[in-house]
Amino acid sequence: MRRALAHARRGLGRTAPNPVVGASVVTAEGVVVGDGAHERAGGPHAEIFAIEAAGARARGATLYSTLEPCSHVGRTGPCTDRIIAAGIRRVVAAMEDPFPLVRGRGFGVLRDHGIEVEVGVGREEAVRLNQPFLTAVRERRPFVILKAATSLDGRMAAAAGERTQLTSAAADRHAHYIRAQVDAIAIGSETLLVDDPLLTARLVYRERPLTRVVFDRRLRTPPTSRLFSTLPAGPVIIVTSRRAQSAQRERSDGLERAGATMLALDEPTMTEALRALAALEIQSLVLEGGPVVHRAAWDAGVVDYVQLYIAPVAVRRHAGSAGPDAPAVVLGPASTLASLVEPQVRTLGPDALVEGYVHRPH
Ligand SMILES: NC(=O)c1ccc[n+]([C@@H]2O[C@H](COP(=O)([O-])OP(=O)(O)OC[C@H]3O[C@@H](n4cnc5c(N)ncnc54)[C@H](OP(=O)(O)O)[C@@H]3O)[C@@H](O)[C@H]2O)c1
Repeated sequence: MRRALAHARRGLGRTAPNPVVGASVVTAEGVVVGDGAHERAGGPHAEIFAIEAAGARARGATLYSTLEPCSHVGRTGPCTDRIIAAGIRRVVAAMEDPFPLVRGRGFGVLRDHGIEVEVGVGREEAVRLNQPFLTAVRERRPFVILKAATSLDGRMAAAAGERTQLTSAAADRHAHYIRAQVDAIAIGSETLLVDDPLLTARLVYRERPLTRVVFDRRLRTPPTSRLFSTLPAGPVIIVTSRRAQSAQRERSDGLERAGATMLALDEPTMTEALRALAALEIQSLVLEGGPVVHRAAWDAGVVDYVQLYIAPVAVRRHAGSAGPDAPAVVLGPASTLASLVEPQVRTLGPDALVEGYVHRPH
């Protein structure tokens, strides 16, 4: 199973809206005769790659899979048919697939054909690998990573309305590496106005478009934003209210002409916005800030993971202008990092990265 999990990791950041899955076929003598990974949505499932690699040696063998094999026709045919046809004797799966069309049916079909099924081996690890998929299926919203760069005194900028570079090149590289794995990055309209960011994944390889989201209920986004010069990297979605859109039709049309995809909602709360994004197959999203949208996400109870990059500077000394209005990082109801689940701390150049789940991964 460890081997199948390693293969599953090959799909990280590439399979949405599908889960990452790895599989290995092992003979009764313990010889690995086939491995596979699900590499992209629409492509063959991991089990199929592994069974094809095994060929005739799959007969009587055990298939290890990090997820329950599917039994329905989706973008590809059912894996259970292929498993049965290949003569696999035993299937060991890390976890059930909660997707409504599967949810135990895959195991049922296999058992009905006399195949021995064992579930739960490597579950913890499989669950961690598929947090975006599992969150999207179970909660109909993306897995939300709250990301913030702060000074030692907990500020996200030196003053309101001021773009402040806090972290080092090493920390930025790491942040871009994370951007390469997720489906979307999101910011509040104030950050767009103050920072005019590009929001692209730089210095990393990413093979599919990266969606950028701006939460902007008053349609303040200027059509001249630098974001619109990056459309080849992926769509730019402006989440706004229907009311703002009809009141400011020209602004909305101007943004559309600039290349924006308008997502106008009756109630553009954080919860509704995330639900609408999940309907667009966005399963993981880095919420980069600023503090106002961070607070909205905490209040809506939708923060799943925190990544806090802490720079060894106090903004007062760093920028010489920290005022009482310098935006402070918002760290949720407990306002503490001590309550993070499975916390990890590491250094990135001179900076520290503190990260962890807000709740137990499930
Ligand atoms: N250090 C870092 O990691 C980092 C990262 C990002 C930003 N920043 C800094 O943070 C500062 C800006 O942060 P900020 O907190 O003032 O603004 P912000 O969070 O970027 O944007 C706030 C705006 O988002 C809009 N919004 C849309 N939907 C919302 C919702 N459901 N709930 C709440 N607001 C929603 C609101 O405008 P409408 O009412 O018009 O929708 C609100 O005024 C800048 O100085 C920037 O440089 C730092």
